[in-house]
Amino acid sequence: MNKLENAVERILIPEDKIAARVKELGAQISKDYAGKNPIIVGMLRGAIIFYGDLLKNVKIPCTLDFMCLSSYNGTCSTGEVRFLLDLRGSIAGRHVIIVEDIVDTGLTLDYVLKNLSHRGAASVAVCTLLDKPSNRKTKVPVKYTGFEIENEFVIGYGLDCDELYRNLPYIGVYKNR
Ligand code: IMP
Repeated sequence: MNKLENAVERILIPEDKIAARVKELGAQISKDYAGKNPIIVGMLRGAIIFYGDLLKNVKIPCTLDFMCLSSYNGTCSTGEVRFLLDLRGSIAGRHVIIVEDIVDTGLTLDYVLKNLSHRGAASVAVCTLLDKPSNRKTKVPVKYTGFEIENEFVIGYGLDCDELYRNLPYIGVYKNR
């Protein structure tokens, strides 16, 4: 049988560790943004599971919106970022928190932040589940990071390879066959 787990070389971050860290991030955001009614923006599709779990741990009033960008082809960044879906509402005067699955080269985030900088937000911050700092090509400000990881291609908990494996409940290193 073609099992999901067959694509995993090893489990990098198990479910319980992810849940504990997501709880901490939610608590920190709730504290930092108390009284600010932030808009929490989920980056589709990789951040969806992290986004849902994070929201359950954000205990202050907030509104939600989504963006979808694309720059990856299989396990390689194309370096070319494309907008597939923009925010539905205005962010003028609002405190924005961008929720990402992973910051790798930083090119996607750089593109998003430059694009949003013309829209009059009161503040824009980034919350990423994973950070691969060794592969950075451009400097990007990240306020909240779940885990720093080595330069390995990972799947699961929303992260894909060619759109597969997002539904693995943990983060695993992709087995390159
Ligand atoms: P960046 O523009 O290189 O920072 O790439 C950001 C996007 O690339 C992320 O939002 C992911 O969708 C994808 N990505 C980068 N590294 C990985 C990985 O190890 N596994 C799965 N997707 C990745």
